[in-house]
Amino acid sequence: MSTVPALLDPAAQAIHQAAQQPTQQATTARLDIYAGIHKALRTLMGDILGRLGRCDLDHPGELRDTLDRTDLMLDLMASHVDSENTVIHTAIEARLPEGARQTTEDHVEHQHSIAALRQDVQVLRVAQPVQRPLLARHLYRQMALFVAENLEHMHVEETTNNATLWSLFTDAEIGQLEGQIVSRLSPEKMMAYMRWFAVGLSTAELTGLLQAMRLGAPAEAFDATLALIKGELSPERWDRLATALQMGSLVPASTATH
Ligand SMILES: [Fe+2]
Repeated sequence: MSTVPALLDPAAQAIHQAAQQPTQQATTARLDIYAGIHKALRTLMGDILGRLGRCDLDHPGELRDTLDRTDLMLDLMASHVDSENTVIHTAIEARLPEGARQTTEDHVEHQHSIAALRQDVQVLRVAQPVQRPLLARHLYRQMALFVAENLEHMHVEETTNNATLWSLFTDAEIGQLEGQIVSRLSPEKMMAYMRWFAVGLSTAELTGLLQAMRLGAPAEAFDATLALIKGELSPERWDRLATALQMGSLVPASTATH
């Protein structure tokens, strides 16, 4: 990872240095644009790493399913990098030149890693059975390094970048940035992320996300999201969510028959 930019003007340096300090008050009080999506992506990355590790390579269906899931994870990670670059980093750097330099540089590395991992997935997908063990071990190790890098990178975003955002933007403005990110997603990609929000967030956090969606999205989209989420949660957790959403025993129409 890169170091703090050395060429900032004094005012910008002061803001950036302030942004480096752990601000206990700020972490409890301000809008955290990273928290939810990063929980979702950490959960997704852990799931994929586990699947790659335990995949039975002599079982073509399981191998194909594991590699399909890995490709989807790489698509979501690439989309996430693009959203952060286009919306968050652009906003930070408009008010503080070089203010997102470290994580911007990290993203370049991540894009290279994603491209290499996609290629590793494809090579394993078409390999002969005798070649699979070595190729699978390589993919597993490279994925582990990618996950490790992302876990560290997300910590920088949630501490340094959040402090920078909080020093430069109001919560209302940060909320608008979040809205821009959501509006860039296709419905398919949004649903793919929602699956990992469902298993990565606490019931209270998931409730907040769904309450906002209920107010802003078409009823059909909300129902489809609930149906997807219900499939991911234990019955106990689903009951807690339904209660929190004040739905009583409401069951999404599309899952009412099972
Ligand atoms: Fe990032």
